[in-house]
This record gives sequence, C-alpha cells and structure tokens, in this order.
Amino acid sequence: MNARLALDRLLESQTGIEVTRGGIDASVDAFLARRLNELKLVSLEDYLPRLSAQSGELEVLLNAITVTHTWFMRDPGQLSIVSSLLERREPAGPPLRVWVPGCATGEDPYSIAMLAEQASRAVEVLGSDINSAALRRAAAGVYGSWSVRDIIDVERYFERGERSTFNIAPRLKRHVRFERHNLLEPVLPGDWDLVLCRNVLIYLSRERARGVVERLAEALAPGGYLLLGASEVVFEVPQQLEATYVAGRLALRRVAGSAKMRAVPPAASSLVARAPGRAWEAPLPALPRSAVDIAEHRPPAAAPSPSPGVDSLLTRGHDHLDRSELPEAIIEYELAAELDPTRAEPHMYLGIALYLNGALEAALHELRAAVFLDAALWPAAFYLAVCHEGLGQLEEAQREYRHVVRVAARGAGPSLPRRHSAWHDDLLDLARKRAGSAA
Ligand SMILES: C[S@@+](CC[C@H](N)C(=O)[O-])C[C@H]1O[C@@H](n2cnc3c(N)ncnc32)[C@H](O)[C@@H]1O
Repeated sequence: MNARLALDRLLESQTGIEVTRGGIDASVDAFLARRLNELKLVSLEDYLPRLSAQSGELEVLLNAITVTHTWFMRDPGQLSIVSSLLERREPAGPPLRVWVPGCATGEDPYSIAMLAEQASRAVEVLGSDINSAALRRAAAGVYGSWSVRDIIDVERYFERGERSTFNIAPRLKRHVRFERHNLLEPVLPGDWDLVLCRNVLIYLSRERARGVVERLAEALAPGGYLLLGASEVVFEVPQQLEATYVAGRLALRRVAGSAKMRAVPPAASSLVARAPGRAWEAPLPALPRSAVDIAEHRPPAAAPSPSPGVDSLLTRGHDHLDRSELPEAIIEYELAAELDPTRAEPHMYLGIALYLNGALEAALHELRAAVFLDAALWPAAFYLAVCHEGLGQLEEAQREYRHVVRVAARGAGPSLPRRHSAWHDDLLDLARKRAGSAA
C-alpha cells in the first residue's frame, strides 16, 4: 500500500473522515507539503510513524485538514426547531441540555444560547469537536463580521472588540462550554434533551456516520431530539429514533425501541416524480442565505469577473448529482455559493439539490436568492414554484410558474451548461401547463 493511501486509511479509522469528501484531500496535500518541510522529512513514509492515535502530530494534522466552516444562525429554518423546543419548556423549569458535536468555532452553541435568551428559557450547551484549534477559538468567542452576517441584532449579543471583532457577550458565554471529543469515541454523557450535529457526518464515511448516529441516539434522554444537517437526513437512523416534525421541519426523536436500522422518510412529499427527472433524479440539502443578505454583500457593478473556482466546483457538483451522490453534490454547491455569493447559478443548483432531497424550506432560500440575483434564470423560478407546491403554498407557486412563462416568452433564456439543456423544454412545458391551469 502506498504511503498516501495508508494516511487516508489512518484518518478514516481514527476519525471517520473520508478525504475524498468536501475537498479534504486537497487540504491534506497542502498540509503534507508544508509539514514535511517544517519537520525536515524527506518522504511521507518518514512522517507516518508520527501519527499514532495519542500523538500530538495527529492533532496537528486534524487541526489543519478538518473543514470548520460555520457561522451564526446557520439554517434559521432548522434553528426554529430549537426555538420551538425551548418554548415548550416551563419558563422556570430546568435548563434544556444541548450537546453540539462538531461545533467547530462555536457559532452553533452560541446561537442556541441566543435563542434561549430570546425565548426566556434556561439552557446549558456543550460544544465539542475533534479540532482543538477551532475549540480554542470557540472558547475565546471572538468573531469576524462574516461570521455574524446573519444576526439581525448584533449589538445585543456581542461587544465590539479591537480591530472590528465581535466578542460574545459574557452573559451568553456562561451557558456554553467546550470540550474536545472525537465522534468515533463513546459519547459525552449528559442525557441530552437535544443533540445538534450538523454538517459533520457529510465528511465521514457512510459506515462510520451510521455508527455515530446510533451512538448519538443513545446519548439522548427519552423524548430528546437529534437534529442533523439538512443534507444528512438521508442517513439510516436507529430504531430508537422516530422522524417527526417540529416547527414544520424534520427532527428525530428518541423513543424506546430496538436497535434495528431503518431509513428516514423524506422530509416532505416530493414532487420529483411529477417533474422531469433525467439526470436530476437524485438529491440533497444546505445553507440558506437570505436575498437581503446577498444584496448587502453584493459587490459594486465593476467587480472582477467570477472566480474560476466557482465553475469547477459547479462541475464537480453536477458530476456528483448525476451519480446521485447527494451529500457530495451539496458540499460542492455550498462551496461554490460561498466562494461567490453574488452568482446566481450556485444558489440555483444548491436549491435544486435541496429540493430533490425534500429540504424544501432550505431550498426556497437558495432558489429565492438565485431568482433575486438573476430574474432571467427561470429554472430557479420553476423549482421555486414546485417547492411552494410542496409546502402547500399554491398562490406563490402559481406566481412563480407565471414568472417562468413570462421570462421564457421574452426569450431571456438562462445560459446553463449544455448537459442540462435537455430538461429545459420539459420544465417549460410543465410551467406553462401549471400556470395555465390557474388562469
Ligand atoms: C463544517 S463544521 C460544522 C460546524 C457546525 N456544526 C455547522 O453546521 O455550521 C464540521 C466540523 O466537524 C468536525 N469533525 C469532523 N470529524 C469529527 C469527528 N470524528 N469528531 C468530532 N468532530 C469532527 C470538524 O473538525 C469540523 O469542525
């Protein structure tokens, strides 16, 4: 076995991380080039023996290659579940006990503390991660403006620090603590009312992710909830969890039961069968940003042309989608949308992928952003319409179908890759029928 393959296997066995996911392999390459030089080692073969499970070197490696991207109030639709669980509790009752594994730099745990304050309920949050450097930043609670971009009332929760940083208010910090923890190891004890583990399993091999979900289920108090990222609801879940809806979103609740595995039902009844399938019969989820937010971050008209990286990320996303590799497609589209939030196509593809996975509300956010950025991108409006249909919002759906027909009639066609041109006529045809049926 070559040394690089041995390293990848070691990472998978120690952490569950599969380097082919989310571009981690490129981070490993970059890390190795730098680290071998620093350690004055000639080859990877010389480096491997330093990576024992208990070694500091494994920690250095993990700190460099894990994807710690996160921000406050990520996926507000899903966080409304947390608000709802908080509000169900007695105002003077015991605190909601929340564990956030894979919390990276701490934005999710602190967001929960903010939601608890909004709901006037007590909360105790434990954030954990395998990345010790991220946890140090979490404990410091000092953030840049990009992290807080989705917080409406920033002054309420942060103190302004030096160099325009945002420091978490000490009163929020008191409810949150952090601990290093590897999800492959036994769970952190706590009889948790809620485990919020978002956008972590997508980086793990399927086998490891399944084991993690089983252990997280065991860590819940009876009646406790497990929330995974929107793209992660496709994982099989243990029998002791049941799929349920809270605040209109999918949540998994701990019930008494056997350990037999079963598949999670889709988050919402899907219209995919009625929409033309072709290469789009796949998919999954992600991270919404509002159109307002995008407007605020819009570059001036003379901004440089889009980064070429976006196109290659989109191409990789399409490849995954065509092979029905949904979490992988989502990751690529998310990265593309993050790299250039002002381009409409990444939002559209992310929205379509989310829709196909049944994450309708998250899809709505992305598709709205796409239409906002480019009203002529009518396939985005089409999927916006079917999302509205799926949510029972028929007037909104009709409005979008009519928009599709109007844009197409003006001949203002989107310039999309040729590989997707086949479904244009089908979608347009369907939009005409549905818009017509409302007249
Ligand atoms: C993209 S961040 C997710 C942050 C946040 N939950 C969110 O959704 O925005 C993924 C995190 O998972 C962590 N992670 C990956 N493998 C892990 C493991 N085996 N045990 C614990 N944390 C892990 C990474 O270090 C990283 O900080």
